[in-house]
Amino acid sequence: MTSFSYQTLLPEYAEDWQKLRLEGARDFPLGFLVTVDETAAASLDRCRKILGRKGIRGVFADQALVGFCGYRPQELERTKHRGEVGPFFVTRDYQGSGAAKILMTGVIEEARSAGIAQIELFVDTENLRAIAFYERQGFKIVATHHDTVRINGHNRQDHFMTLLL
Ligand SMILES: CC(C)(COP(=O)(O)OP(=O)(O)OC[C@H]1O[C@@H](n2cnc3c(N)ncnc32)[C@H](O)[C@@H]1OP(=O)(O)O)[C@@H](O)C(=O)NCCC(=O)NCCS
Repeated sequence: MTSFSYQTLLPEYAEDWQKLRLEGARDFPLGFLVTVDETAAASLDRCRKILGRKGIRGVFADQALVGFCGYRPQELERTKHRGEVGPFFVTRDYQGSGAAKILMTGVIEEARSAGIAQIELFVDTENLRAIAFYERQGFKIVATHHDTVRINGHNRQDHFMTLLL
């Protein structure tokens, strides 16, 4: 049986992380703000620097990285009760495997133990699989943001979803 684990991604995972980012940007454009070209333009050194800021979490199946998400707890006195999640991605072969839940549960537990009261994310209104997943984790749609993203000149809408802890 597969054993899943959750951890902050450190610079040593730059190559594996970059592979997942490229797959995500190429195959799931509704799930990413960055384009394939923007993703491909990031050197391994740049990826190492990003991971060095410790704002990316990963889910591993046995020893292999199979998914990741950004997690940004707010730091200002007036907003430090909030944490933002995104992007959020699990490689195609592990979608439907429970890996996504391990990743989100890891973030939720981390946020809760840091005293965060609210986790927030944006999701394209037509990304039905992601919306169904987030709702199952307890997130609720609280607003719809129009013209958030333009893909090939077409504007798209995002739902703003929150999970109250
Ligand atoms: C979003 C994502 C992390 C969810 O992980 P997952 O492993 O696929 O999620 P699950 O399979 O556990 O759950 C998805 C739910 O959507 C349902 N679903 C699957 N395809 C669907 C579709 N086309 N429309 C609606 N619901 C769908 C599944 O049946 C499941 O619901 P259930 O458990 O009640 O049956 C993953 O699909 C992913 O990485 N997608 C690409 C990147 C992306 O879009 N990220 C979100 C950015 S905001």
